[in-house]
Amino acid sequence: METIRSAVEATTGHDGPTRPTASPHTTPLHTPVCGLFGLRQPIFAFSHSIPVAAAVSRCGGLGTYGATRRTPQEIRDELVLLRRLAGDTPIGVNLVLPPGMPEDDDPDAIERELPERHKAFVRGLYEKYDVPPPKRRGMRTRFLRSNEIARAQMEAVLASDVDLVACGIGMPADFVERCKRAGKRIVALCGSPKHARRAIDSGADFLVAQGHDSAAHTGPIGTFSLVPQVVEAAGSVPVLAAGGVMTGRHVAAGLALGAQGAWTGSLWLATEEYAIHPLLLKKLIAAGSDDTVITRSESGKTFRQLRSAWSDEWSAPDAPRPLAMPYQDVLVGDLLGAIDDHEIEPLMHYAVGQGVAWIRERQSVAEVYARLVDETHAALGAVAAMTGAAR
Ligand SMILES: Cc1cc2nc3c(=O)[nH]c(=O)nc-3n(C[C@H](O)[C@H](O)[C@H](O)COP(=O)(O)O)c2cc1C
Repeated sequence: METIRSAVEATTGHDGPTRPTASPHTTPLHTPVCGLFGLRQPIFAFSHSIPVAAAVSRCGGLGTYGATRRTPQEIRDELVLLRRLAGDTPIGVNLVLPPGMPEDDDPDAIERELPERHKAFVRGLYEKYDVPPPKRRGMRTRFLRSNEIARAQMEAVLASDVDLVACGIGMPADFVERCKRAGKRIVALCGSPKHARRAIDSGADFLVAQGHDSAAHTGPIGTFSLVPQVVEAAGSVPVLAAGGVMTGRHVAAGLALGAQGAWTGSLWLATEEYAIHPLLLKKLIAAGSDDTVITRSESGKTFRQLRSAWSDEWSAPDAPRPLAMPYQDVLVGDLLGAIDDHEIEPLMHYAVGQGVAWIRERQSVAEVYARLVDETHAALGAVAAMTGAAR
């Protein structure tokens, strides 16, 4: 095990800023990508929770706040809070910036174009499940995905002191260039080798190879097939493995596939710092890998989530085909908000990957992080012992 560990440490690129790292408690696990930020371990977390993102950064990894559904002003305020909680450790922010969205933030204009059949289907769900009217606009309808909002979100990110900008879908050239001029690194989430090459040409500093197992917007290629293909396509550009990374064995496997670290999302959903509804937490803990489905009914793009009456209804033979983004957002946004606000249990669901099978208990971020790092060392050591490399 020591042999492998020092071999991994020997590849460290100490060419980046060496920031004080927060956690002296976890054993270092250096790969070259750590050198970009002065990380203790190449563990990257995506989270909609600022306390989770901050805690991961303080542990020695890098927490990235998912801000795509936040208003520009919220992004400004929340990134200040993230910095305050993370101290001097590196932090990131994620935006989803799909091309082809409408110009203006005008949900009513989109609403007027929604097909009657789809609106009737949504009204039917309100009736069938006794969903009271929404108390407020839903997360997907409080503003429209539009070029107008995207530009203002990008300005909010540029005004912040985040170290990393993670592009979920879309990488506007001007934004990438301005981020880089401001000293921010760019990571692009890729679901295919083709995406990887495009992202590198567009200026990504490193890539996430996000496999089919993953939560939320995901592509058709499984993590095991995707990661080495993206590594090959990326050449000298570092790659992180994503999609099903829930244990140290997964991190070690990602390293063996040629990645330099892991990008994780589902791993943090049951942490004490993550504010999740108790009913959803119960569903996550009870679920196995075959309890997730891919549906376009959430946002119009393929999206992995917990199976529920929501996904079942939309996959029924008489259900309409979900609309494209942002039409589906507007069609279902208020209903989704009402389902959560009124706790309509059968329809409640959440984005999660196939790794949900490992969500078993509530633990703090620091406990999950330390377990992940310890398990990674153990897995690397076990492989070395099994193959005789440790002698
Ligand atoms: C609840 C949830 C919401 C997500 N939302 C986004 C998002 O807004 N933008 C994005 O780029 N990735 C999003 N992701 C995907 C993560 O960035 C990451 O690629 C994915 O979670 C990795 O797979 P895993 O869940 O198996 O760890 C989300 C993941 C989760 C769990």
